[in-house]
Order: sequence, then C-alpha cells, then structure tokens
Amino acid sequence: MNQPDILVFAGSCRRESMNLKLAGAAAKIARAHAKVTLIDLADYPAPIYNGDNETADGMPPSIISLRQLFRQSDGFVIASPEYNGHVPPLLVNTLAWASRTAGDSKDDNVFAGKCAAVMAASPGRLGGVRVIPRLRDMLAELGIVVVPGFATVPAAHSAFDDDGQLSDSTATATVQGLIDRLIAHCR
Ligand SMILES: Cc1cc2nc3c(=O)[nH]c(=O)nc-3n(C[C@H](O)[C@H](O)[C@H](O)COP(=O)(O)O)c2cc1C
Repeated sequence: MNQPDILVFAGSCRRESMNLKLAGAAAKIARAHAKVTLIDLADYPAPIYNGDNETADGMPPSIISLRQLFRQSDGFVIASPEYNGHVPPLLVNTLAWASRTAGDSKDDNVFAGKCAAVMAASPGRLGGVRVIPRLRDMLAELGIVVVPGFATVPAAHSAFDDDGQLSDSTATATVQGLIDRLIAHCR
C-alpha cells in the first residue's frame, strides 16, 4: 500500500522546545508506515503578517518553500504549545502567511483536503490541552480535516528520555494510536 507523505512540525522553534521533541517522537513513530518529513519552523522565519508588507515585498521565500512542503504532503502532525490557552503566535503567523496565494493562483489553497493530527506538550499538569480545540478550529478553517482524538504530554520537561523519545508507554501508545488514525485517513 502506498505510504502517505506526512509533514511533522511544532508550533515552537525554541531550541529546547518540548513540542519540537514531541514532534520528533511522533515522526519516529510515523516513519514505520509513512514518508515523513520533520521540519523546524526556525528554518522558515517570517515577519509578522502585514498586508502592506505583503503588497510591497511579496511572500517571504521561506513561506514559498513551506507552501510547497504543505502542497506535496498528504497530512500533517502538529505539536503545539498553549500560550494563554491559545494557539501560539508562531503557528498563527506561519499559517496566516501560508494561507496566502503568492499571486500564483487564486484557488491555490495548499491545505484543502489534507488531514492532520494535533498534539500538545506543556510543563503544566494539563499538557496544553486547551490549545487542542482552538487549533482544530484554525485548521478546519483552512480546509484541513483533523482526525479524531489528540495527544497531550503534561510535565513535558521530564517526559522525554536522552534520545528525545517519550519515556511513558501510555503517552507513546496515545501518540501511536493518533498517528495510525492519521495514516489510515490519509490513505
Ligand atoms: C506567553 C506564554 C503563555 C503561556 N501560556 C501557557 C498556557 O496557557 N498553558 C500552559 O500549559 N503553558 C503555558 N505557557 C508555558 C509553555 O507551555 C512553556 O513555555 C512551553 O515550554 C512552551 O512550549 P515549548 O517548550 O515547545 O517551547 C506559556 C508560555 C508563554 C511564553
């Protein structure tokens, strides 16, 4: 059976980001059944979206590259921090830019019909769970089908081993189940 192309990224580009670790752990799990590309949004910097700047300077080259990655993927795994209960500005800004069309085609929504799995990690005891419904809404608005369920990692500062893998077998099983659903959906 064809292996779907899955793009994995985190909503944080902090060097020691727990969500980047969670994205890495999810990517490792997904590689058993999918072609996986793991990216760090630090490699795709973009100024805060402002329509005047877009008119004057166009789309940043980083976003043009990112849009190409989105376009060629069947599905996404997104591990996001929760900032004051919401989607963090890095993710909002990146998705806002990527939802623009670079003047290539009016209909070129690189997200339409794709599917996604969402997860969150936080040092807090709720694991960033409040970001999940907000992220779902945001992705749905872009035309992405978010698969049922989610994974959260509470106390994430102590949830990963030295290899960056989840130490807890229950958390690993939850991520595994979510990835399995995403891959089945992509197929
Ligand atoms: C502006 C701001 C708001 C935050 N709000 C929350 C929050 O609502 N819930 C939570 O669990 N953690 C919150 N945190 C803590 C983050 O979960 C923590 O900084 C985490 O390490 C960020 O994810 P990262 O490690 O992937 O960068 C907040 C952090 C910042 C900087």
